[in-house]
Amino acid sequence: MTEVQERVSDERRAALRAGLLSWYARHKRDLPWRRSEDPYSVWISESMLQQTRVETVIPYFMRFMKRFPTVAALADAEVDDVLALWSGLGYYSRARRLHAAAALIVERHGGEFPRRRQEAEALPGVGAYTAGAVLSIAYGLEEPLMDGNVQRVLARWFRVEGLVTRAAARRELEELAANLVDGVGDPASWNQALMELGATVCSPREPRCGGCPVEALCEGRAAGVERALPVLPARPAPVDVELELFLVEEAGRVLLRRRGAEGRMAGLWELPTRELASGEARLFPAEVELSLLARGELGELRHTITRHKITARVYRAALGEDGLPPEWAWVGVEELKGLGLTGMTKKALTLGRGRSL
Ligand code: ADE
Repeated sequence: MTEVQERVSDERRAALRAGLLSWYARHKRDLPWRRSEDPYSVWISESMLQQTRVETVIPYFMRFMKRFPTVAALADAEVDDVLALWSGLGYYSRARRLHAAAALIVERHGGEFPRRRQEAEALPGVGAYTAGAVLSIAYGLEEPLMDGNVQRVLARWFRVEGLVTRAAARRELEELAANLVDGVGDPASWNQALMELGATVCSPREPRCGGCPVEALCEGRAAGVERALPVLPARPAPVDVELELFLVEEAGRVLLRRRGAEGRMAGLWELPTRELASGEARLFPAEVELSLLARGELGELRHTITRHKITARVYRAALGEDGLPPEWAWVGVEELKGLGLTGMTKKALTLGRGRSL
């Protein structure tokens, strides 16, 4: 018997399953992707949900499914149209990989998301988590999955005290997840219930143990160490970034710049932007670089990208005499909606033009 099997007695496993599954049946949130077990819809929602909150994902998911209702529709789309629908969700490489994976699913798997883990994980952007989610939720296969919520729940239930980025603790948690799903009968509910408990009850800082269906079975709680688990690596310190954004509008068109093909937010469109060096004075109202003339401040906005806490001042500006550098383009205001804009550019356009896109 492995160490994990010894730690999960049959009685405890049965009690955890019964407690969590009946709680989930009563408390699960009504989320749009839960109304269907279509593998495509599970794949899209789970890809969006990585690194992004449920409330943020809902409207994006609805728009995406309406526009690209099937794998084939996504495979046939232009990547720029996929990016446009993703605009504001962040981590844009997810959208590019989703698009590339759709083409491969059509090509290699007859348009159906593969049922085998190895084939699923061979697709761009599909890692162990996404494969586990689609296989269990859509296909009802008893495959484990691990995300931050599951990691927290299991580390508390079984008092896993190692640093979770280390191989030993990671392996222990993975074995626990596999042990619990094996033979559960309803892996779709089980995996989602683990995530749901982590998202709504077993929260990182203030777990509501009083609302937990299996409080009495939790080793972390019994030892009074639930808040200290899981043991996570120190977070990188936040970095404050100050930007100036310039809104140049002329005859129903806006001046935008397309980001390069490599790096962060590759290929997305943004307003002309200038980053202030630390402690550098604001340039307004003097003439600014890139032959723009600032004409007045429109306001300030805040935006977070991973650990970068951005404060951006938005200025109305006019094009100076030097003309358009090559990566810039005039875009008609009615076209803005269909473009892959950065999240911050969307916010700035809304602020500057007094209405959302
Ligand atoms: N987080 C990511 N996917 C989820 C799901 N299917 N249920 C609950 N929380 C989630």
